[in-house]
Amino acid sequence: MTDASTESREQIVTEAVRERRELVNEAIEEDLPITEPERLYEASRYLLDAGGKRLRPTVLLLVAEALADVEPYSEAYRKFPALDGTEVDIMAAAVSIETIQSFTLIHDDIMDDDDLRRGVPAVHRAYDTETAILAGDTLYSKAFEILLDTDAKPARSVEALDVLATTCTRICEGQSLDVAFEERPDVNPDEYLEMIKNKTAVLYGAASTMPAVLLGADDETTEALYRYGIDVGRAFQIQDDVLDLTVPSEKLGKQRGSDLVENKQTIITLHARKHGVDVDSLVETDDVDAVTEDEIDDAVAKLQDAGSIDYAREKAETLVERGKDHLDVLPDNEASDMLRQIADYLIERGY
Ligand code: IPE
Ligand code: IPE
Ligand code: MG
Ligand code: MG
Ligand code: MG
Repeated sequence: MTDASTESREQIVTEAVRERRELVNEAIEEDLPITEPERLYEASRYLLDAGGKRLRPTVLLLVAEALADVEPYSEAYRKFPALDGTEVDIMAAAVSIETIQSFTLIHDDIMDDDDLRRGVPAVHRAYDTETAILAGDTLYSKAFEILLDTDAKPARSVEALDVLATTCTRICEGQSLDVAFEERPDVNPDEYLEMIKNKTAVLYGAASTMPAVLLGADDETTEALYRYGIDVGRAFQIQDDVLDLTVPSEKLGKQRGSDLVENKQTIITLHARKHGVDVDSLVETDDVDAVTEDEIDDAVAKLQDAGSIDYAREKAETLVERGKDHLDVLPDNEASDMLRQIADYLIERGY
């Protein structure tokens, strides 16, 4: 049930994200131009141009605004005030994070055998698997090139590159666990939490840490911001698992029920198994195109009866509350307030 305060939060947050998304999109045009070979760069830009919420770059920009204590929605992201008075192109870091996000989505859709992404055919469907692998790889390496161009002090730049490199390694580890778990109905909650930390939360962790590193915040602040990113990132993935079951494909921009078809282990299926649901029989087909809406509706009804979806929502809420507490290290300003609102929005969002 959506109450009035949730509705107004959604408006406030979606407006804050929209403003920054437009600037990020302009910066993507500048930092990731389509060059030769055209097919490779077109395939690399294809998902970036198709849409996407841009939540991670928004978090990154908001953390920068909060730390520098500047007015929210500063247009001067290319010459952003570091804490020692130097200037940093914080927008380059935002583009870099979104470039990594796109890379992981392209490869994720190959791994998950998904046809639909951001409301359009996945890159390996619109082009072919070879091109999609290369487009992902190109975005992966471009993200580092772009991050090298922030004009931050060399030591800070190196540290930011370290953050990004470690993040990408963790994402691969998480994705590897995610795939391995398809064959493991005995996955326990701690294993699941470790898997989603790596496949998803670390990119939020990078988004919240990167500005602290580039702008020269102290270690305590940087650490607290990382914890914020990890907690809200985990909550974000739990909400993604809920949305996979509950939101129509047209609204989601990706195939509803895909996790059930692919035998993914989510906090929902873990809870359901423990409460006697025969999770492996919820959906018969292993072809995402063959699953019917009725099949998914029946599966969701069983998961709901077992209390598994409510359980997931409660878990996500707890994580978000903990995540927001870490923001006490930030100055009290509009941007830090928005980071709290975004944390709530990540689990209230409908797509
Ligand atoms: C999808 O992320 C990938 C996950 C980690 C679940 P988003 O839901 O943020 O996807 P876009 O970037 O808005 O398309
Ligand atoms: C995504 O997890 C994690 C990534 C690293 C992209 P999912 O496989 O649940 O993401 P969606 O639902 O396809 O966006
Ligand atoms: Mg997927
Ligand atoms: Mg996946
Ligand atoms: Mg998902």
